[in-house]
Amino acid sequence: MRRGSILQLVGLGILFGGLATLVAVLIPWLPPVASRQRDRIDFVFWFTTGIAIAVFALVAAVIAYSIIKFRVQPDDDSDGPPIHGNTTIEIVWTAVPAVLVTAISIVSSIALVKNENVPKDHLDVNVTARQFAWSFSYPNQGNLTSSQLRLPLNKTVKLHLRALDVIHSFWVPEFGQKEDAVPGQDTSLVITPTKEGTYPVICTELCGLGHALMRSSAIVMKPAAFEAWVQEQKNAAKGPPGQAGQAVFTSNGCASCHTLKAAGATGTVGPDLDKLPAYAQQAGKPLEDFVKESIVDPNAYVQPGFPKNLMPSFSTLTKDQLDALVAFLVDSSKGAS
Ligand code: CUA
Repeated sequence: MRRGSILQLVGLGILFGGLATLVAVLIPWLPPVASRQRDRIDFVFWFTTGIAIAVFALVAAVIAYSIIKFRVQPDDDSDGPPIHGNTTIEIVWTAVPAVLVTAISIVSSIALVKNENVPKDHLDVNVTARQFAWSFSYPNQGNLTSSQLRLPLNKTVKLHLRALDVIHSFWVPEFGQKEDAVPGQDTSLVITPTKEGTYPVICTELCGLGHALMRSSAIVMKPAAFEAWVQEQKNAAKGPPGQAGQAVFTSNGCASCHTLKAAGATGTVGPDLDKLPAYAQQAGKPLEDFVKESIVDPNAYVQPGFPKNLMPSFSTLTKDQLDALVAFLVDSSKGAS
Protein backbone atom coordinates (compact mmCIF):
# COMPACT_ATOMS: atom_id res chain seq x y z
CA MET A 1 0.00 0.00 0.00
CA ARG A 2 1.29 3.42 -0.90
CA ARG A 3 1.92 6.03 1.78
CA GLY A 4 -0.53 8.40 0.10
CA SER A 5 -3.39 5.85 0.37
CA ILE A 6 -2.73 5.28 4.08
CA LEU A 7 -2.79 9.03 4.72
CA GLN A 8 -6.09 9.31 2.83
CA LEU A 9 -7.60 6.43 4.84
CA VAL A 10 -6.44 7.97 8.12
CA GLY A 11 -7.89 11.32 7.03
CA LEU A 12 -11.27 9.76 6.26
CA GLY A 13 -11.17 7.86 9.58
CA ILE A 14 -10.57 11.09 11.52
CA LEU A 15 -13.38 12.80 9.60
CA PHE A 16 -15.99 10.06 10.31
CA GLY A 17 -14.76 9.51 13.88
CA GLY A 18 -14.95 13.27 14.52
CA LEU A 19 -18.49 13.52 13.14
CA ALA A 20 -19.69 10.55 15.23
CA THR A 21 -18.00 12.02 18.34
CA LEU A 22 -19.78 15.35 17.80
CA VAL A 23 -23.15 13.55 17.52
CA ALA A 24 -22.40 11.59 20.70
CA VAL A 25 -21.16 14.54 22.74
CA LEU A 26 -23.19 17.54 21.53
CA ILE A 27 -26.65 15.95 21.78
CA PRO A 28 -27.78 15.42 25.41
CA TRP A 29 -28.78 11.76 25.05
CA LEU A 30 -28.97 11.04 28.77
CA PRO A 31 -30.81 12.74 31.66
CA PRO A 32 -28.72 14.49 34.36
CA VAL A 33 -26.79 12.19 36.70
CA ALA A 34 -28.11 11.96 40.29
CA SER A 35 -26.72 8.74 41.74
CA ARG A 36 -23.41 6.96 42.20
CA GLN A 37 -24.78 3.86 40.42
CA ARG A 38 -25.72 6.02 37.45
CA ASP A 39 -22.09 7.27 37.26
CA ARG A 40 -20.93 3.68 36.82
CA ILE A 41 -23.61 2.90 34.25
CA ASP A 42 -22.66 6.03 32.30
CA PHE A 43 -19.00 4.98 32.40
CA VAL A 44 -19.91 1.65 30.77
CA PHE A 45 -22.09 3.53 28.28
CA TRP A 46 -19.30 5.88 27.21
CA PHE A 47 -16.71 3.09 27.20
CA THR A 48 -18.92 1.14 24.77
CA THR A 49 -19.75 4.24 22.74
CA GLY A 50 -16.03 5.06 22.39
CA ILE A 51 -15.34 1.58 20.99
CA ALA A 52 -18.36 1.85 18.69
CA ILE A 53 -17.14 5.21 17.33
CA ALA A 54 -13.66 3.80 16.63
CA VAL A 55 -15.10 0.77 14.78
CA PHE A 56 -17.52 3.02 12.86
CA ALA A 57 -14.71 5.39 11.83
CA LEU A 58 -12.57 2.50 10.55
CA VAL A 59 -15.39 0.82 8.58
CA ALA A 60 -16.77 4.07 7.17
CA ALA A 61 -13.27 5.21 6.09
CA VAL A 62 -12.57 1.94 4.24
CA ILE A 63 -15.99 2.02 2.54
CA ALA A 64 -15.65 5.67 1.49
CA TYR A 65 -12.09 5.09 0.24
CA SER A 66 -13.19 2.02 -1.79
CA ILE A 67 -16.16 3.85 -3.29
CA ILE A 68 -13.91 6.69 -4.47
CA LYS A 69 -10.82 4.69 -5.57
CA PHE A 70 -12.21 1.44 -6.96
CA ARG A 71 -15.29 2.72 -8.77
CA VAL A 72 -15.85 0.79 -12.02
CA GLN A 73 -15.76 2.89 -15.22
CA PRO A 74 -19.18 3.04 -16.94
CA ASP A 75 -18.00 1.01 -20.00
CA ASP A 76 -15.87 -1.52 -18.06
CA ASP A 77 -17.56 -4.96 -18.30
CA SER A 78 -14.46 -7.05 -17.48
CA ASP A 79 -14.33 -9.47 -14.50
CA GLY A 80 -12.51 -8.39 -11.36
CA PRO A 81 -9.14 -9.95 -10.50
CA PRO A 82 -9.52 -13.45 -8.93
CA ILE A 83 -8.66 -13.03 -5.23
CA HIS A 84 -8.62 -15.69 -2.56
CA GLY A 85 -9.26 -14.80 1.10
CA ASN A 86 -6.59 -13.20 3.28
CA THR A 87 -5.93 -15.32 6.37
CA THR A 88 -4.09 -12.57 8.28
CA ILE A 89 -6.94 -10.08 7.86
CA GLU A 90 -9.52 -12.69 8.86
CA ILE A 91 -7.62 -13.53 12.05
CA VAL A 92 -7.31 -9.83 12.87
CA TRP A 93 -11.00 -8.99 12.33
CA THR A 94 -12.03 -11.95 14.47
CA ALA A 95 -9.54 -11.38 17.26
CA VAL A 96 -10.02 -7.60 17.66
CA PRO A 97 -13.84 -7.74 18.16
CA ALA A 98 -13.41 -10.71 20.53
CA VAL A 99 -11.04 -8.62 22.68
CA LEU A 100 -13.38 -5.59 22.57
CA VAL A 101 -16.50 -7.59 23.50
CA THR A 102 -14.61 -9.27 26.35
CA ALA A 103 -13.45 -5.87 27.61
CA ILE A 104 -17.03 -4.54 27.54
CA SER A 105 -18.32 -7.58 29.46
CA ILE A 106 -15.62 -7.23 32.11
CA VAL A 107 -16.27 -3.50 32.59
CA SER A 108 -20.07 -4.13 32.75
CA SER A 109 -19.67 -6.92 35.30
CA ILE A 110 -17.56 -4.74 37.57
CA ALA A 111 -20.13 -1.91 37.34
CA LEU A 112 -23.05 -4.29 38.06
CA VAL A 113 -21.35 -5.92 41.06
CA LYS A 114 -20.41 -2.52 42.52
CA ASN A 115 -23.95 -1.23 41.91
CA GLU A 116 -25.46 -4.09 43.91
CA ASN A 117 -23.15 -3.57 46.84
CA VAL A 118 -25.04 -2.41 49.97
CA PRO A 119 -23.03 -1.00 52.88
CA LYS A 120 -24.12 -2.02 56.41
CA ASP A 121 -25.03 1.57 57.20
CA HIS A 122 -27.87 1.98 54.70
CA LEU A 123 -31.51 3.02 54.62
CA ASP A 124 -34.23 0.44 53.86
CA VAL A 125 -37.35 1.52 52.00
CA ASN A 126 -40.25 -0.76 51.09
CA VAL A 127 -41.74 0.14 47.74
CA THR A 128 -45.26 -1.09 47.06
CA ALA A 129 -46.63 -0.97 43.53
CA ARG A 130 -50.32 -1.38 42.81
CA GLN A 131 -52.63 -0.34 40.01
CA PHE A 132 -51.93 2.60 39.72
CA ALA A 133 -49.88 4.09 42.49
CA TRP A 134 -46.56 3.85 44.26
CA SER A 135 -46.24 3.90 47.99
CA PHE A 136 -43.06 4.02 50.00
CA SER A 137 -42.64 2.99 53.63
CA TYR A 138 -39.68 3.29 55.94
CA PRO A 139 -39.47 0.22 58.26
CA ASN A 140 -36.78 1.77 60.48
CA GLN A 141 -38.56 5.11 60.78
CA GLY A 142 -41.67 3.81 62.57
CA ASN A 143 -43.04 2.37 59.30
CA LEU A 144 -44.04 5.81 58.11
CA THR A 145 -45.59 5.73 54.67
CA SER A 146 -45.43 8.26 51.86
CA SER A 147 -46.62 8.50 48.27
CA GLN A 148 -43.33 10.18 47.38
CA LEU A 149 -39.90 8.67 47.74
CA ARG A 150 -37.87 10.94 50.03
CA LEU A 151 -34.17 10.17 50.26
CA PRO A 152 -31.28 11.70 52.19
CA LEU A 153 -28.35 12.91 50.08
CA ASN A 154 -25.30 10.60 49.76
CA LYS A 155 -26.87 7.82 51.85
CA THR A 156 -27.16 4.42 50.18
CA VAL A 157 -30.73 3.18 50.15
CA LYS A 158 -31.96 -0.32 49.43
CA LEU A 159 -35.42 -0.40 47.87
CA HIS A 160 -37.41 -3.59 48.50
CA LEU A 161 -39.97 -3.84 45.72
CA ARG A 162 -43.33 -5.55 46.00
CA ALA A 163 -46.32 -5.66 43.65
CA LEU A 164 -49.85 -6.29 44.92
CA ASP A 165 -51.56 -7.09 41.63
CA VAL A 166 -49.65 -7.21 38.33
CA ILE A 167 -46.05 -6.59 37.23
CA HIS A 168 -44.88 -2.97 37.51
CA SER A 169 -41.42 -1.55 37.02
CA PHE A 170 -39.64 1.11 39.04
CA TRP A 171 -37.61 3.70 37.17
CA VAL A 172 -36.03 7.04 38.02
CA PRO A 173 -34.10 8.09 34.88
CA GLU A 174 -31.63 10.25 36.83
CA PHE A 175 -30.76 7.28 39.07
CA GLY A 176 -30.17 5.16 35.99
CA GLN A 177 -31.68 1.79 36.87
CA LYS A 178 -34.95 -0.06 36.33
CA GLU A 179 -36.27 -2.90 38.44
CA ASP A 180 -39.48 -4.89 38.05
CA ALA A 181 -41.91 -5.28 40.93
CA VAL A 182 -43.37 -8.78 40.51
CA PRO A 183 -46.28 -10.23 42.52
CA GLY A 184 -45.05 -12.94 44.88
CA GLN A 185 -41.40 -12.12 44.36
CA ASP A 186 -39.02 -9.85 46.29
CA THR A 187 -36.81 -7.68 44.12
CA SER A 188 -34.50 -4.91 45.21
CA LEU A 189 -32.57 -1.95 43.93
CA VAL A 190 -29.67 -0.02 45.47
CA ILE A 191 -29.39 3.75 45.04
CA THR A 192 -26.96 6.31 46.43
CA PRO A 193 -28.34 9.76 45.52
CA THR A 194 -25.63 12.31 44.81
CA LYS A 195 -27.62 15.40 43.85
CA GLU A 196 -30.42 17.26 45.62
CA GLY A 197 -33.61 17.69 43.61
CA THR A 198 -36.94 16.22 42.59
CA TYR A 199 -36.96 13.45 40.00
CA PRO A 200 -39.82 11.51 38.40
CA VAL A 201 -40.61 7.96 39.53
CA ILE A 202 -42.06 6.23 36.49
CA CYS A 203 -43.76 2.86 36.04
CA THR A 204 -42.19 1.33 32.93
CA GLU A 205 -44.23 -1.86 32.64
CA LEU A 206 -47.62 -1.63 30.92
CA CYS A 207 -49.81 -2.50 33.89
CA GLY A 208 -53.32 -1.52 32.86
CA LEU A 209 -55.58 1.40 32.09
CA GLY A 210 -53.86 3.83 34.46
CA HIS A 211 -50.27 2.85 33.60
CA ALA A 212 -49.41 6.26 32.15
CA LEU A 213 -50.62 7.90 35.36
CA MET A 214 -48.57 5.67 37.62
CA ARG A 215 -46.00 8.27 38.52
CA SER A 216 -44.59 9.75 41.67
CA SER A 217 -41.55 11.78 42.69
CA ALA A 218 -38.21 10.95 44.21
CA ILE A 219 -37.09 13.86 46.36
CA VAL A 220 -33.43 13.93 47.38
CA MET A 221 -32.91 16.21 50.37
CA LYS A 222 -30.15 17.16 52.82
CA PRO A 223 -29.89 14.56 55.65
CA ALA A 224 -31.05 17.13 58.25
CA ALA A 225 -34.11 18.04 56.14
CA PHE A 226 -34.89 14.33 55.74
CA GLU A 227 -34.77 13.81 59.51
CA ALA A 228 -37.05 16.82 60.00
CA TRP A 229 -39.51 15.38 57.47
CA VAL A 230 -39.49 12.01 59.29
CA GLN A 231 -40.34 13.74 62.58
CA GLU A 232 -43.05 15.84 60.96
CA GLN A 233 -44.68 12.72 59.44
CA LYS A 234 -44.57 10.85 62.73
CA ASN A 235 -46.30 13.78 64.45
CA ALA A 236 -48.94 14.10 61.71
CA ALA A 237 -49.88 10.42 62.09
CA LYS A 238 -50.64 11.08 65.77
CA GLY A 239 -52.64 14.24 65.00
CA PRO A 240 -56.42 14.79 64.92
CA PRO A 241 -58.50 12.39 62.71
CA GLY A 242 -58.79 14.83 59.79
CA GLN A 243 -55.03 15.21 59.54
CA ALA A 244 -54.41 11.48 60.02
CA GLY A 245 -57.05 10.70 57.37
CA GLN A 246 -55.47 13.08 54.90
CA ALA A 247 -52.10 11.43 55.57
CA VAL A 248 -53.61 8.01 54.74
CA PHE A 249 -55.20 9.48 51.58
CA THR A 250 -51.90 10.96 50.44
CA SER A 251 -49.63 8.07 51.36
CA ASN A 252 -51.76 5.48 49.56
CA GLY A 253 -51.69 7.38 46.31
CA CYS A 254 -55.49 7.96 46.14
CA ALA A 255 -54.78 11.31 44.50
CA SER A 256 -53.40 9.69 41.35
CA CYS A 257 -56.92 8.56 40.39
CA HIS A 258 -59.36 10.72 42.36
CA THR A 259 -60.26 14.38 42.70
CA LEU A 260 -60.67 15.73 46.24
CA LYS A 261 -60.47 19.47 46.89
CA ALA A 262 -59.58 19.09 50.56
CA ALA A 263 -56.45 17.12 49.64
CA GLY A 264 -55.59 19.15 46.55
CA ALA A 265 -56.15 15.98 44.46
CA THR A 266 -57.11 16.30 40.80
CA GLY A 267 -57.11 12.71 39.42
CA THR A 268 -59.83 11.85 36.90
CA VAL A 269 -59.46 8.07 36.41
CA GLY A 270 -61.87 7.33 39.26
CA PRO A 271 -64.98 9.10 40.59
CA ASP A 272 -64.71 12.66 41.93
CA LEU A 273 -64.64 12.22 45.73
CA ASP A 274 -66.11 15.68 46.30
CA LYS A 275 -69.36 14.17 44.98
CA LEU A 276 -69.44 11.26 47.45
CA PRO A 277 -72.73 12.32 49.10
CA ALA A 278 -74.47 12.31 45.69
CA TYR A 279 -72.98 8.94 44.78
CA ALA A 280 -74.05 7.43 48.12
CA GLN A 281 -77.59 8.64 47.44
CA GLN A 282 -77.52 7.04 43.96
CA ALA A 283 -76.24 3.79 45.49
CA GLY A 284 -78.97 4.03 48.14
CA LYS A 285 -76.57 3.66 51.05
CA PRO A 286 -75.70 5.81 54.08
CA LEU A 287 -72.66 7.97 53.29
CA GLU A 288 -70.27 6.56 55.88
CA ASP A 289 -71.05 2.88 55.12
CA PHE A 290 -70.82 3.62 51.41
CA VAL A 291 -67.39 5.21 51.71
CA LYS A 292 -66.05 2.37 53.86
CA GLU A 293 -67.43 -0.29 51.50
CA SER A 294 -65.95 1.48 48.46
CA ILE A 295 -62.47 1.40 50.03
CA VAL A 296 -62.51 -2.19 51.29
CA ASP A 297 -64.67 -3.80 48.58
CA PRO A 298 -64.59 -1.38 45.62
CA ASN A 299 -66.53 -3.66 43.24
CA ALA A 300 -69.57 -3.95 45.51
CA TYR A 301 -70.90 -0.79 43.86
CA VAL A 302 -69.19 0.95 40.93
CA GLN A 303 -70.41 4.40 40.05
CA PRO A 304 -71.95 4.27 36.52
CA GLY A 305 -69.59 5.70 33.91
CA PHE A 306 -66.47 4.29 35.58
CA PRO A 307 -64.82 0.94 34.73
CA LYS A 308 -65.34 -2.05 37.00
CA ASN A 309 -62.41 -3.93 38.59
CA LEU A 310 -60.13 -0.93 38.28
CA MET A 311 -59.88 0.23 41.87
CA PRO A 312 -57.86 -2.13 44.06
CA SER A 313 -59.15 -3.11 47.50
CA PHE A 314 -57.48 -1.26 50.35
CA SER A 315 -58.45 -3.90 52.91
CA THR A 316 -54.78 -3.90 53.94
CA LEU A 317 -55.27 -0.62 55.85
CA THR A 318 -55.31 -0.95 59.63
CA LYS A 319 -58.60 -0.24 61.41
CA ASP A 320 -57.29 3.12 62.66
CA GLN A 321 -56.13 4.11 59.19
CA LEU A 322 -59.45 3.08 57.63
CA ASP A 323 -61.51 4.95 60.23
CA ALA A 324 -59.37 8.07 59.83
CA LEU A 325 -59.65 7.91 56.03
CA VAL A 326 -63.45 7.41 56.09
CA ALA A 327 -63.88 10.30 58.52
CA PHE A 328 -61.68 12.53 56.35
CA LEU A 329 -63.56 11.63 53.14
CA VAL A 330 -67.00 12.04 54.71
CA ASP A 331 -66.14 15.43 56.26
CA SER A 332 -64.37 16.90 53.25
CA SER A 333 -66.98 15.70 50.71
CA LYS A 334 -69.79 17.13 52.85
CA GLY A 335 -67.90 20.40 52.96
CA ALA A 336 -67.43 20.43 49.18
CA SER A 337 -70.98 19.67 48.07
CU1 CUA B 1 -47.64 0.16 37.00
CU2 CUA B 1 -47.38 0.59 34.67
